[in-house]
Amino acid sequence: MATQRLWNSMAAQGVLHNKNFDAMYSMQLGELWPSVRVSLLSERKYGALVNNFSCGDPVTDLQSLGCRDFIASSSTAADPFSPPYSGSHQFYQHIVNEGTGIDLARTFISPNVKCLVFPKGDTSRFKPARLDSAGLLTYYLMDAASVLPVLALNVQKEESVLDLCAAPGGKTLALLQTQAVRFIWANDWSGSRMSRLQRTLNSCLPHDLLSEDKLCITSFDGREWHELGGNTFDKVLVDVPCTTDRHSLIEEDNNIFSRSRTKEKRNLPLCQTQLLLTGLQAVRKGGEVMYSTCTLSQLQNQCVVEQAISLANQELGITAEIVDLQPFTTLFKDTFHFAPDLNVGAMVLPHLTANFGPIYFCKLRRLS
Ligand SMILES: C[S@@+](CC[C@H](N)C(=O)[O-])C[C@H]1O[C@@H](n2cnc3c(N)ncnc32)[C@H](O)[C@@H]1O
Repeated sequence: MATQRLWNSMAAQGVLHNKNFDAMYSMQLGELWPSVRVSLLSERKYGALVNNFSCGDPVTDLQSLGCRDFIASSSTAADPFSPPYSGSHQFYQHIVNEGTGIDLARTFISPNVKCLVFPKGDTSRFKPARLDSAGLLTYYLMDAASVLPVLALNVQKEESVLDLCAAPGGKTLALLQTQAVRFIWANDWSGSRMSRLQRTLNSCLPHDLLSEDKLCITSFDGREWHELGGNTFDKVLVDVPCTTDRHSLIEEDNNIFSRSRTKEKRNLPLCQTQLLLTGLQAVRKGGEVMYSTCTLSQLQNQCVVEQAISLANQELGITAEIVDLQPFTTLFKDTFHFAPDLNVGAMVLPHLTANFGPIYFCKLRRLS
């Protein structure tokens, strides 16, 4: 009832861009759409990403409120062998399985990243994080599903990482929590959003970590970024601008579906493809690129990945394969609702009992 009232009042204000969403997603998601739609209109859930650089310990307090670290408690009961991929399209010959199953997937996950969530069905809110004695936040609130692309990128000790579209910095911070990164380059084209990234990092990181030999912050157009040099990073995160579905469905402010932003909306898949191509150029041979969005749109997700792989091959002579994330997502099936039968990448679908996402992520490995 409450959700229906919210829906009606927003529709009356013209805030709800339901026509766009209903048309796009009822076809794509079929019978799942009504449930996803209601969830998008309901209060989202957050996760508390523990700040390892703070001397405060928020975990005991959060656990006493009923929270659990969804990463440490990732599923142990799942089938250790993922079924082989069964897609028929020729394109999917590029998909490779990440090892032999979930046991291997688990060994890849950084033991240092901790993110606490309230149990399924519990809609309690987190209190704002406290400051420790050094003035650093003890945790950072973000959509817990946003941590998944970072975990799946699987940063190993002493690796270098490019975070191509980094602001406001939640994933940069999660990358740093692995305590494995040797060097991270955080870039974002928007000056105002860069200030937010700077604020995020300043509130969570000690000064020595903010030094230039560990962290470089720039504000370039990521589509041109490869001109600065390619082939060098071990890992690249390409967390692109998108239709930000949860925001766009209910917020009028700066809405991507507004008339003034029509051209930008139309250009999104092209811009996303160009950014992913930059990522593929920036990563070394054998290195990995994580593409991610917060939209349900196939056009901005799977289609962009397919298009970028094909263009990279034809125009840049770069070959890349898609890494099968099923063993990875199986680990987290008790916390998130994943879209079934996704051929390329993985997607967290919003659900009333676990209202995270939408987050789409797809891992590519550069072969040549
Ligand atoms: C989804 S947000 C990134 C969120 C961020 N990774 C995080 O976890 O906090 C996408 C970002 O892409 C940036 N962006 C848009 N076009 C860009 C471009 N051509 N090059 C680099 N960044 C761009 C936007 O300013 C926006 O901050």
